[in-house]
Amino acid sequence: HGTSRVNEHGHLEIGGCDTTQLAAEYGTPLYVYDEALIRSKCRAFVNAFRTSGFSFQVAYASKAFCTMAMCKLVEEEGLSLDVVSGGELYTALQAGFPAERIHFHGNNKSVEEITMALDAKIGCFVVDNFYELSLLADIGEQRMEKVAVLLRVTPGVEAHTHEYISTGQQDSKFGFDVMSGQALAAIQQAYESNWLHLLGIHSHIGSQIFEADGFLIAIGRLAGLLDEAREKSGFVPQVLNVGGGFGIRYVEGDTPMPPEYYVEAITKAVREEFTTRQLPLPELWIEPGRSIVGDAGTTLYQIGSHKEIPQLRKYVAVNGGMTDNLRPALYQAQYEAAIANRMNEQNAETVSIAGKCCESGDMLIHDIALPVAKAGDILAVSSTGAYGYAMSNNYNRIPRPAVVFVHEGNAELVVKRETYADIVNHDLLPAGSKVTK
Ligand code: LLP
Repeated sequence: HGTSRVNEHGHLEIGGCDTTQLAAEYGTPLYVYDEALIRSKCRAFVNAFRTSGFSFQVAYASKAFCTMAMCKLVEEEGLSLDVVSGGELYTALQAGFPAERIHFHGNNKSVEEITMALDAKIGCFVVDNFYELSLLADIGEQRMEKVAVLLRVTPGVEAHTHEYISTGQQDSKFGFDVMSGQALAAIQQAYESNWLHLLGIHSHIGSQIFEADGFLIAIGRLAGLLDEAREKSGFVPQVLNVGGGFGIRYVEGDTPMPPEYYVEAITKAVREEFTTRQLPLPELWIEPGRSIVGDAGTTLYQIGSHKEIPQLRKYVAVNGGMTDNLRPALYQAQYEAAIANRMNEQNAETVSIAGKCCESGDMLIHDIALPVAKAGDILAVSSTGAYGYAMSNNYNRIPRPAVVFVHEGNAELVVKRETYADIVNHDLLPAGSKVTK
């Protein structure tokens, strides 16, 4: 996919860069991002909306992969940005991302985060609950400024995906429930508030979704809710945000559709549902994360030890694992991989790829066919661009890997590898203790 291919040395090449050279130069584990592929995804979403006739914003859900370089790229592509924390907001602002195109999500924003966002003059908050609704109105009043908001509602749609990453069903920690009438009450409260400017509503029905059906059902319910809201309080939305969640291919059997497919299905449904109810067509916003960066990322590891249990299994260990990719341990997520320095060799055995953490669950891939792996080989795991670096951690005090963007034969370091000094940087020894060497 993207700009990856096997070069004349039988090595995996991405963005015109030989991955074995990248591994040698930047060390491993290493996250490699195909910049052209990220940009082409951004453009596909934007272009699909351009031809739809809708006013729109495509907001990249930065939680999938948030670094200053990524924020910069997103800005260059003309997208908006969804942030969910002070840290993501800070990253975007440090990268010079235009604040008015930032939307602030989250189910428990602190007063400090809200203040930081208002000081920066971000575009809007996506309000999650009644507590936050009052908090924002109070802060707006103190500051004598109107706070622009969308309300996140839960339309009661369960997208076909892993349970841990479904967020649209009724029993969810996110959003105002539609079925019980909470969403309607929230709209009324926000619309009547002197200190809130209610732009519209938002819903996000899940993640790694392949079919458009879930979106269509949700859009029907959202239109129904807005119809009721207009009747009850006269509110007519300017914006409808239908969230993200568009799936990507991790392994064989995954059947994602291209960005155009989701945009066309969504715009068609909104046009129909709103026209039927004689509601004016809103500005449409979406929030793709994974589908922008997921398959543009590849993680390079160095293979080290192996262990064979006769007649049972062969474990091949790499120099990373759940610290740089938590998804297999957390969601039983599946990945494909190849030996980057021997791409033309036939597969010769089935092995399981183990991480190096002190935890049995730290397995990256179960049962994958590969050429016989030797210590020193480079293992390339594909489609790690979303929620890989983003959920990386320092378990076992393992430093986070570096991140490079590759493009037309050039590699650009965009996140430096953490050092052991970084690992102890925030540690303090109790006062009076002595370090003897
Ligand atoms: N908008 C909202 C409100 C969200 O909660 C999410 C994801 C997105 C947009 C972007 O969804 P995407 O297009 O990336 O699917 N850590 C999990 C995924 C958690 C998704 C949380 N919310 C994983 O690694 O699969």
